[in-house]
Amino acid sequence: MQKGKAKLGQLDLEGALIARDRVGIQDFVLLDAHNSETAFLDNLKKRFSEDLIYTYIGTLLISVNPYKVLDIYTKKQMDLYMGVNFFELPPHIYALADNAYHTMLMEANNHFILISGESGAGKTEASKKILQYYAVSCPSITLLDTVRDRMLMSNPVLEAFGNAKTMKNDNSSRFGKYMDIQFDSQGDAVGGHILSYLLEKSRVVHQNHGERNFHIFYQLVEGGEEDLLRHLGLEKDTKHYCYLVQGESPNVNSINDKNDWKTVKNALSVIDFDANDIEHLFGIIASVLHLGNVQFGGDTIGYAILNSNAELRWVSKLLEVHFQVLHEALTYRKIEAKSEEVLSPFTIDHAVYARDALAKAIYSRTFTWLVNRINKSLENKDSSRKTVIGLLDIYGFEVFSVNSFEQFCINFCNEKLQQLFIQLTLKAEQEDYEAEGIGWEPVQFFNNKIICDLVEEKHRGIISVLDEECLRPGDATDLTFLEKLEQRMGNHPHFVTHKLADKKTRKTLERGDFRLLHYAGEVTYCVVGFIDKNNDLLYKNIKDVMCLSKNPIIQECFPATEADSRRPETVATQFKNSLLRLTEILTAKEAWYVRCLKSNDNKQPGKFDEVLVRHQVKYLGLMEHLRVRRAGFAYRRRYDIFLQRYKALCPATWPHWRGVPSDGVEKLVQHLGYQPDEYKMGRTKIFIRYARTLFATEDAFEICKHELATRIQAKYKGYRAKGEFRKQKEAATKIETCWRGVQARKERERRAWAVKVIKKFIKGYMTRREAKTTDNSEYLAFVRQSYLNRLKDNLPKTVLDKTTWLTPPPVVKETSSILRQLHTRMMVRNYVRGITPQKKAQLQQKVVTSAIFKGKKESYPQSIPVPFMDTRINEQDINMRVLQTIRHERIKYRIPVVKYDRNGCKPRQRQLILTQAAVYLAEEAKIKQRVDYVSLKGVSVSNLGDSIMILHVTCGDPKQKGDLVLQCDHLFEALTKLAMLANKQNNIKVVQGSIKFEIQVGKESCVDFSTGQEPMVYKGKNGNLMVVAPQIKSR
Ligand SMILES: Nc1ncnc2c1ncn2[C@@H]1O[C@H](COP(=O)(O)OP(=O)(O)OP(=O)(O)O)[C@@H](O)[C@H]1O
Ligand SMILES: [Mg+2]
Repeated sequence: MQKGKAKLGQLDLEGALIARDRVGIQDFVLLDAHNSETAFLDNLKKRFSEDLIYTYIGTLLISVNPYKVLDIYTKKQMDLYMGVNFFELPPHIYALADNAYHTMLMEANNHFILISGESGAGKTEASKKILQYYAVSCPSITLLDTVRDRMLMSNPVLEAFGNAKTMKNDNSSRFGKYMDIQFDSQGDAVGGHILSYLLEKSRVVHQNHGERNFHIFYQLVEGGEEDLLRHLGLEKDTKHYCYLVQGESPNVNSINDKNDWKTVKNALSVIDFDANDIEHLFGIIASVLHLGNVQFGGDTIGYAILNSNAELRWVSKLLEVHFQVLHEALTYRKIEAKSEEVLSPFTIDHAVYARDALAKAIYSRTFTWLVNRINKSLENKDSSRKTVIGLLDIYGFEVFSVNSFEQFCINFCNEKLQQLFIQLTLKAEQEDYEAEGIGWEPVQFFNNKIICDLVEEKHRGIISVLDEECLRPGDATDLTFLEKLEQRMGNHPHFVTHKLADKKTRKTLERGDFRLLHYAGEVTYCVVGFIDKNNDLLYKNIKDVMCLSKNPIIQECFPATEADSRRPETVATQFKNSLLRLTEILTAKEAWYVRCLKSNDNKQPGKFDEVLVRHQVKYLGLMEHLRVRRAGFAYRRRYDIFLQRYKALCPATWPHWRGVPSDGVEKLVQHLGYQPDEYKMGRTKIFIRYARTLFATEDAFEICKHELATRIQAKYKGYRAKGEFRKQKEAATKIETCWRGVQARKERERRAWAVKVIKKFIKGYMTRREAKTTDNSEYLAFVRQSYLNRLKDNLPKTVLDKTTWLTPPPVVKETSSILRQLHTRMMVRNYVRGITPQKKAQLQQKVVTSAIFKGKKESYPQSIPVPFMDTRINEQDINMRVLQTIRHERIKYRIPVVKYDRNGCKPRQRQLILTQAAVYLAEEAKIKQRVDYVSLKGVSVSNLGDSIMILHVTCGDPKQKGDLVLQCDHLFEALTKLAMLANKQNNIKVVQGSIKFEIQVGKESCVDFSTGQEPMVYKGKNGNLMVVAPQIKSR
């Protein structure tokens, strides 16, 4: 428990730090003037004026009743507070609820929220807000929604039956309520259980002025449907019922009975009440109203007789008891004398008393039945482990002008809760300091144990005295009880009566009063009714009648076994014991506190009655609580948590402190420059004396946080990027792996396919010559195709290429040869088509050349590729005179030649010109010789590689020049042209050895041809022209 409390205590401190510039101080622990009640009140007031009704003292929540609807309980607000620590948001009841819830989940233990404060301070409202928070905010599964709805709906039902308007509060709880909300390990609200404490049943039959009976009566009468009212025999008028008119306050502005009736009816159906239950329940409520209207008159001797039977008939009808028996029970008392039963008639007073006792008993027992019935509908039957958060909302401390037994019980109850609070907080806090070894001044606080003892101490307390009086034989009265009290409590500082008081005080006390100095102030109780109310006797015959009822609810409320049972414990003792049990329940759980303060006595919105609030602050011990909480130190925190929060402020502790946390904290505070008087190191916590020290630290932290945030952001971004990168890399690897797998599978398939194909191929190959099968025909088709494909890329490019042709496999041999022929033909055709007329002429010339020289002259093959030209001398290089002389013959061809003298064999450069009619030999402007084609006998050349040609000329005249011996570089070209022009193809002779020629008519000479290394032409010793032809390498 300490752990959770301490943790949250620290967290909320920081919340106040962050938000300290908001209105006032959010946590009193940080109030510098923590000893000043005025400062305390100022802070409350300042916040209250801004509608900030919540303030913390550590984990304790102070709530000041605003008496107006604030917009701070929305779903949005709930969401805001969910899972958020105290310190992060302004104080709120949701923050407390949420922290209790999360601590419960985290530590898997039980908790309770003690809501205290005087009547009208806002306890019930607070408890409803908490319940709503859990119902709305806790995780939910549809199945459990009914449980939540029932939990929520139990409130309006119990309030209708157990709350009433008092002078203090229009919706005052007249019973104590402790509700356990059960959660499973997931944090789902799965069930609930309610314990109720001592309903103020006297209200059923009597209300003080300005007060009302329980709400349900008014709701039924005002809101009940016509049919229902008729069925219950009720009039639609509250004034008609004696039990509703005594306070003379049936209508209250803040209460809308008609609407509330609808809410209650709806709530009852949610809680699983069927039509029968509802009929019986309201039958009982109506029966109480009828009972109140049963009036008695006196007979002649003063005994009670019924004024009218009508009302009692309704009672008997609704309670399903026999009229006569009921009538008898209300007018006669059954006295058991020895073995006989004697009926003794009632006086009017007795009859009224019996009637009221019956009304109270019926109502209060029905209330208990109702609580049990609600519990049944909230029950979670699943036996798995659950943790609970208990909500304690009990009637608050109250002081009226006349206070009776009920106020005594209520105020005693508040006294007990205050005692519990003291034990769990003030004492525990002081022990915390001791445990931490921190020296401090003990805080004086008022321990109300003395008052608790005064009331409840065994054999000596007021309750014991009251019980004694109730149980002792003889005539015990309220006054004898008072006397006893005076005897026993005479000197008690918290007890005073008229008799015991000093003169001044006596004036304020009646003789039948006693006064208790409660922790919350003094209350004067009037003893009238104490004995009766404590006895709470129901005449036996009335009880017996009830036991015979046919109404199932009444049957449960008055079990037959009870009729004979022993006298029950007195009311005060029962109550005392139930509070003892409650204390036990609570001390086994971890506590959270909500202290409700009433802002003013007039239920006025926004009014802050300083005196009233100051009084409450005082008696609730809030200042003491604060003082103990601080014990001279504004702040304390476990080392590890302190270090965790502020470690960023010191290089030695950031980002990690590896040593003991306390050493780390020491380093940290030294780095921050804390002075020795500013802090103390406890065993597990650091204690900081001044709030300002912490503020400075917190300010530094605020600044540092931004830097840190940037750094963390950067780191985080890096981390994210790295993560992203890693993810991508992993993805890439995965894809790669998959892809490889796919590839491998493909490869495997390919290989399998290949194996199949190869096998088939081999088989086809091996059987290629056999009869046709699928295998070999496929193989052969492949061979054919592959050959043709290869052939396509390896065809000969020219007609002359005779070597390029792929050797065909046998199967396509024939095809191949046909293709070859086709291809050759195609090339030829293409070639032929590609020949131009020039080329054609040229080729025709070459054909002539071939016919003359092929196989005859050695140099012929070399001449083949050399194309023939139209001429070898440009026209402009021919002398103009020559041109003019011969132009008319049309010049066809020109070429430079060397002419060898006929005698001297001297070489002379000449131009050979062929015309249509003759050959001319020219030198510059001179035409040296003209040979008419007619007189050209023929031409001789050697068979060797030389370029000598001899033109044989017909010489008829000795003056005429003889044959021409010429050397021409383009011999074949010149001779072909000549042969064609002169039409002398057949006159060109290729001669072996020597060639004779005529120098003149009758004078011959000879040209001798031979081969040698160097080509030469010279005059031989024999006078012949010697021609050495170059040796031509045969190709
Ligand atoms: N938080 C709140 N916001 C608005 N109004 C509130 C708040 N708390 C209390 N009130 C007003 O104060 C009235 C009294 O509150 P509530 O019934 O909770 O008091 P109580 O402490 O339960 O008193 P009692 O001891 O008599 O039962 C409410 O009916 C409501 O009008
Ligand atoms: Mg209440």
